[in-house]
Amino acid sequence: MKDRYAVIGNPVEHSKSPWIHARFAVQTGEPVEYGRMLGPLGGFEPEVRRFIASGGRGLNVTVPFKLEAHALADSLSPRAAAAGAVNTLAFGPDGVRGDNTDGVGLVRDIEVNLGVSLKGARILLLGAGGAARGVVLPIFERAPAALTIVNRTAAKADQLVDQFAPNAAEAGVRFSGGSAASVEGGAYDVIVNATAGSLDAALPECDDSAFGPATLAYDMMYGAQPTVFMQHASRLGARAADGLGMLVEQAAESFFVWRGVRPDGGAVLRELRQSLAAKA
Ligand code: ATR
Repeated sequence: MKDRYAVIGNPVEHSKSPWIHARFAVQTGEPVEYGRMLGPLGGFEPEVRRFIASGGRGLNVTVPFKLEAHALADSLSPRAAAAGAVNTLAFGPDGVRGDNTDGVGLVRDIEVNLGVSLKGARILLLGAGGAARGVVLPIFERAPAALTIVNRTAAKADQLVDQFAPNAAEAGVRFSGGSAASVEGGAYDVIVNATAGSLDAALPECDDSAFGPATLAYDMMYGAQPTVFMQHASRLGARAADGLGMLVEQAAESFFVWRGVRPDGGAVLRELRQSLAAKA
């Protein structure tokens, strides 16, 4: 008998998580079976409760249920509490545990798969929604020199800076934010696009001088073709990366949360990249 897991979302049919976790199960030899569940809008919790009652051990949670998963959890990991969103649920004797592996997924992709150390780096984070909030603490943990948050609606960047200022002080990170026009100029070491802009091919506002030849410009989105943000960064001479590796690494971290065994995300990412390229 295998232990049962699944991804729940709406829509969910295009999720790559079942494929990724199947690879992890083969790689690690863990007795894991991983499916997909279409969560009814307005009916997330009953669907989760049914899965638990039928013996399910854990769920990955994707759009639009990450806030509902946060509300449903009996306890939260510190990183899920800080993110205000949950992408990983684990069901055990102590009830429903909510976690968030997105931020660690981003950091691992940048540092391990792309080979760019965040220690001492100047980092620019574009966006101040849920995706941005979830990566702030995991970035601080890597001891960068500075983190700057830029958002179209500057007040939301200010709010994030207020929320995480104590953590920044504790980590010794220079931390500021605001509108694109108001922040420190010059080339950054890493720029992360955490806006939803790539979904509708919109380029988030960001001064061209932020992109230099040594800049890694990272888009959390991915597709068969480079996103507009990646194309823009490449034109300005920066190195561009998409979020496919973040997808794989957040899955690897969820697998670790559930099983206590860490799969090799890099190997699965290479396979996934090849299959994406074959479809392009
Ligand atoms: P998510 O959970 O994906 O972060 P969200 O919480 O709705 O979604 O946040 C979306 C983010 O993308 C916000 O920072 C939003 O900017 P605003 O706060 O000004 O709305 C940003 N965003 C969305 N579309 C954008 C666009 N076309 N250009 C720039 N920023 C955009």
